[in-house]
Amino acid sequence: MTSSYEHHDYDVLIIGAGGAGLRAAIEAKQRGLKVGIITKSLLGKAHTVMAEGGMAAAMGNVSAEDNWQVHFRDTMRGGKFLNNNRMAELHAKESPDRVRELEQWGALFDRTKEGKILQRDFGGHRYARLAHVGDRTGLELIRTLQQKVVSMDTDVFMECKVLKLVHDENGRIAGCVAYWRPTGEFVTFSAKAIILATGGAGKSWKFTSNSWEGTGDGHAMALWAGAQLIDMECIQFHPTGMVWPLSVRGLLVTEGVRGDGGVLRNSEGQRFMFNYVAPMFRDETAESEEEGDKWYDDHAAGRRPPELLPRDEVARAINSEVKAGRGTPHGGVYLDIASRRTPEFIRRRLPSMYHQFMELAGVDITSEPMEIGPTCHYIMGGVKVDADSAATLVPGLFAAGECAGGMHGANRLGGNSLSDLVVFGRRAGMGAADYIESGQAATSLDMSEVEEAVQEALAPFDRTEGENPYDIQRDLQEMMQLNVGIIRTAGEIEDAITQLETFTDRVKNIAVKGGRAYNPGWNLATDLPAMLTVCKTVARGASLRKESRGGHTREDFPKADPEFAKFNFAHTTSGGNWDSEIVTVESPLLPMPDELKALLEETK
Ligand code: FUM
Repeated sequence: MTSSYEHHDYDVLIIGAGGAGLRAAIEAKQRGLKVGIITKSLLGKAHTVMAEGGMAAAMGNVSAEDNWQVHFRDTMRGGKFLNNNRMAELHAKESPDRVRELEQWGALFDRTKEGKILQRDFGGHRYARLAHVGDRTGLELIRTLQQKVVSMDTDVFMECKVLKLVHDENGRIAGCVAYWRPTGEFVTFSAKAIILATGGAGKSWKFTSNSWEGTGDGHAMALWAGAQLIDMECIQFHPTGMVWPLSVRGLLVTEGVRGDGGVLRNSEGQRFMFNYVAPMFRDETAESEEEGDKWYDDHAAGRRPPELLPRDEVARAINSEVKAGRGTPHGGVYLDIASRRTPEFIRRRLPSMYHQFMELAGVDITSEPMEIGPTCHYIMGGVKVDADSAATLVPGLFAAGECAGGMHGANRLGGNSLSDLVVFGRRAGMGAADYIESGQAATSLDMSEVEEAVQEALAPFDRTEGENPYDIQRDLQEMMQLNVGIIRTAGEIEDAITQLETFTDRVKNIAVKGGRAYNPGWNLATDLPAMLTVCKTVARGASLRKESRGGHTREDFPKADPEFAKFNFAHTTSGGNWDSEIVTVESPLLPMPDELKALLEETK
């Protein structure tokens, strides 16, 4: 290979420096491999930190009855049975070890009185299962992994935006082409294996907990490289994002608030979630809220407060209340912990939430309710992988964390993402190392793919007239929020599909002024192709899934249809480019072994 660009050579290259990427790096380093990590952002700044309330693992520290079997069942039920059952099994079995490992590496978890790792309640989990560090668990996880990675002398390339994966002449993944955001100079990387750990894609919706990085780069690059994307229509709207002030709309309010006793009320002061659960899960006899709380706190009877239903159900209920005219002045509902817990408890357990509301909204959550509403938080869909090795269908390409699909089915339970990151980050590191040791890896980069990507990235500078990328991004976010949001109809989805073609033409007509160094307009122009690719697969999946399931709700098909629980919609491209045609097929779910089936049949 000859390259006129700056060039680096690795055994394992990891794209993304959140929890999955860092955990993968540790594993590959422990196998004696040369490892590089690329992040388009800064080390330590990943969406991982937005998983605030904890990391789900059946350790049984608070409820001795908890075990991996119950965690597996909760995860499958939460995912409305669309999950890859082997991933859910591995996740439930291995997450306790991953928590203990983090502790050994220096993570300072909150403690029970006996000194064990403390676990809190979260939606859809039968037992208090979330190991946590106040409401800053994701941050602690990143801090711990980052320290470990740095101590292992791993190369980290920050502010480096990967444009495209590059193959060798035999179609194996051989590296990637990228540019430095500070200078705009291009750089190529060769690698025997690449692990995608790029996180999510929420930045294509108007109200989101995702930061600027969440543009679906890994999803899109995998698709362009020949991998499959599954379950893309399943988008998680976290029930509680800030709604006011507008400048911070969408910012996450941790589920830990509800896990620690917070309740949802509408503008009439009603705890409306009772109206969205079956009577058997409602205490009709309690005369006070306190009395009712005791009834709901009966884990053995399988009872949980209605605010701790899975996220898709709570988000839909909030949406209905607002639509029915029972919302707050700024279009949300109230989340109230002030009337239920002492100020000391709230400040100790939820320090970040206390500061967030005080600083950003002037609301003291120890004495006032919060105004909240659903925010686009997570994409369940992602790259189709083998559960054990995280291998995609393209030789040499692996994926882990939010950009991988299958683990969470149609809806993820809160707290299952931090454990997902470390369970499958580790497995991706192992999978990549095994692949390299098998001697199958690529040795040369196809430079024609590199040149094509570079020319495409530079094209906006050649146009003197054209579209501003920020206008396109804003219009795309509004369109996706409106047409492919929490509740969807055939008409809206078809409109989205048509509009996405117009967006494609607009992206081809982007004009960017100035130089390549620190040019945010150009940086966004290079993100937009991935955003469009992801949105197209989301809209296609949403159109084809004529039922409601988890993070995909169709007003015109309000019920789940068992026929749709037999397969995932799997997308590929015919041409390997961002504007290539997308082809969608039904891909049968992994058959479930009898012993796992038996676990699902238990009634509680
Ligand atoms: O609400 C939260 O703290 C988010 C957790 C998660 O998405 O797993």
